[in-house]
Amino acid sequence: MKAWLLPGFSGTSSMELSTSVEAPIPADGEVVIQLQYAALNPADYYLADKQYPAKPRFPHILGRDGSGTISALGPGATRFAVGDRVTILRGDAGVNTPGTLAGLVAVPEDRLAPAPSDWSMAEAAAAPLTYLTAWQALTCWGPVPAESFVLITGASGGVGVAAIQLARALDLRPIALSRGDSKVPALLELGAEKVFDPSDPKLAEKVLAATGPRAVSLAIDNVGGELFNTLLGVLSDRGAVSCVGRLAGPVPEFNTARIFFKRLRIGGVSVGAYSPGEAQECWGRIVKLLGGKRPVIDRVFPFGEVPQAFTRLRQGPLGKVVIAID
Ligand SMILES: NC(=O)c1ccc[n+]([C@@H]2O[C@H](COP(=O)([O-])OP(=O)(O)OC[C@H]3O[C@@H](n4cnc5c(N)ncnc54)[C@H](OP(=O)(O)O)[C@@H]3O)[C@@H](O)[C@H]2O)c1
Repeated sequence: MKAWLLPGFSGTSSMELSTSVEAPIPADGEVVIQLQYAALNPADYYLADKQYPAKPRFPHILGRDGSGTISALGPGATRFAVGDRVTILRGDAGVNTPGTLAGLVAVPEDRLAPAPSDWSMAEAAAAPLTYLTAWQALTCWGPVPAESFVLITGASGGVGVAAIQLARALDLRPIALSRGDSKVPALLELGAEKVFDPSDPKLAEKVLAATGPRAVSLAIDNVGGELFNTLLGVLSDRGAVSCVGRLAGPVPEFNTARIFFKRLRIGGVSVGAYSPGEAQECWGRIVKLLGGKRPVIDRVFPFGEVPQAFTRLRQGPLGKVVIAID
């Protein structure tokens, strides 16, 4: 089969396209999927740069998200039939086992869900990892009262777009942060109530002018870095931060005094910590809640252009960067 091979922890630019990779054989409880689409995530390039806690065997195949049709069933695999259209919920594929930047992938059947019938297969590949992450970020503190303000950093990315859509579906009021102004109309269209530039020196005042005295109940932080201290400043009493990502690096000069006066809560989000059963349950609720809303695709790249697709991901897409495999 064809696959993009990563020779070691040597960065995504060291990947090579091969057309003679051995096809996977499904183990007990696994199925093989003939992939139609894969979707990229920053964790793919973190892994390639040895900045992610994974121990794959090399050469490794990156890619955690993917959709396609089942082409073979392993012993004991009973939930699906050959020919079923499926999407992969976050599991080990692309982390410690070969992933979806390939013609075929073997996945435990409890990590699969039927591709939503009214979505395209590209949309089905684009959604699971980021929507499950956004779901955990929105729900990990218990129910957030309706009409509360949720501040989302890196709002135009995969997790950010999912967080805007899911926050709206949960009757929350999302405020989005996005660098520059090029993505503002699209983010408002997606459901953001306001969009601000995180580099605006008056960011805190503008956010608080938008929320009024209620301030922000929950911040979903995909970015980290200097912005983190600003987030703490606009939270309400007992407000919470769901820490998802760190695209802007470590937080400089963090002072715990920023936490205790308002009794703030800061917690980590880890989509990989969902058990297969939890991921299935949350995914079912997400698809139902989204109703007619669909995942947003920034661009679909052909299989031969995976390096260009990673360049696009690093630039800051609007929604998901997807790879057409078939
Ligand atoms: N904890 C978990 O379980 C989990 C799961 C999924 C993802 N993540 C992490 O969450 C983060 C976001 O993931 P994603 O899939 O949404 O990423 P993404 O699709 O690449 O989007 C991130 C967005 O953040 C903004 N951004 C990018 N680089 C930035 C920088 N250096 N400084 C400030 N803003 C920047 C960009 O938006 P603008 O250009 O509009 O500002 C970009 O569209 C990543 O760090 C990822 O590894 C964690």
